[in-house]
Amino acid sequence: MKSQARDSLRRCFEDCKSLVREKNCAPIMVRLAWHECGNYDRYEGDGGSVGSIRFEKELDHAANAGLGSALELLAPLKERYADVSHADLIQMASAASIEVSGGPKIPMRYGRVDAASDEAVPPEGRLPDGEAPFHQADGPCPGEVSEDASAAAHLRRVFSRMGFDDRDVVALSGAHTIGRAYKERSGLPSKDATKYTDQGPGRPGGMSWTKSWLTFDNSYFKVLVDASQGKEDEDLFRMSTDAVLLEDEGFSPHCHEFARDQEAFFVAYAAAHAKLSELGAHFVPPEGIRL
Ligand code: HEM
Repeated sequence: MKSQARDSLRRCFEDCKSLVREKNCAPIMVRLAWHECGNYDRYEGDGGSVGSIRFEKELDHAANAGLGSALELLAPLKERYADVSHADLIQMASAASIEVSGGPKIPMRYGRVDAASDEAVPPEGRLPDGEAPFHQADGPCPGEVSEDASAAAHLRRVFSRMGFDDRDVVALSGAHTIGRAYKERSGLPSKDATKYTDQGPGRPGGMSWTKSWLTFDNSYFKVLVDASQGKEDEDLFRMSTDAVLLEDEGFSPHCHEFARDQEAFFVAYAAAHAKLSELGAHFVPPEGIRL
């Protein structure tokens, strides 16, 4: 039984890689999987990797703008592999995307059980804001309103609610080494397109954090260090929550280390990504299935 499931998961993983190569859709797959997990609350015990982002109620949350297109791209695979859960498929497509983009192999487990209905959708507003005003009614304890309105405190509140520390926050933020932000989605970038994005590949436009925004490497951290040394590139995007990784004394040693040492980034990223992918998940079998 388990070997049959593993065989199906392995074939599905290969098809995810082909889809990502064909459609140049690695960034949106990684964002989809992160938003599915990033609403996990370890105090409330809800949210996380349960497939609930497939429900309109969650997809309609403002932070999820644009993610419907990623689910549409995955729909034929879900049909082909009916025995693979939505939650597994979403996480698998993200892990495959990191690999296809040149990043580390993520030590994934599969066997996540899907939430049956949209009753599993947690309250809106748990994902991080990129710019002020940073919501302050976000923990760490339920109902607690913080007095600190800074980007650093916001990141710590949001990520400690999921069980992550400073190094994890910096490593996970490194996922912005791929992808772009769009005016019509988050509304945050100052430009509709840049010299790095106006020709695609894929859909043209948006602002990327790095020049080669389909390559997963440590250039996100190098760009942050360069900008802090006056070598700013106006065609690259940076939010307050990106810049603070170099400014805050708890985050900045990790940021400098990852800018110097890509291997250290890959090791930290792979572990944090795998942990993120399992938040709130119920596995059958309980130990999960490794490919
Ligand atoms: C640290 C706090 C974070 C904030 C404030 C943040 C915010 C954002 C915003 C505003 C966008 C642009 C959305 C758009 O306009 O389409 C974005 C894109 C993206 N985010 Fe994050 N993010 C954070 C952490 C993460 C994490 C932890 C991951 C994955 C592990 C991630 C992966 C991505 C990717 C890959 C994109 C590009 C999507 C695309 O090109 O379509 N982000 N993020």
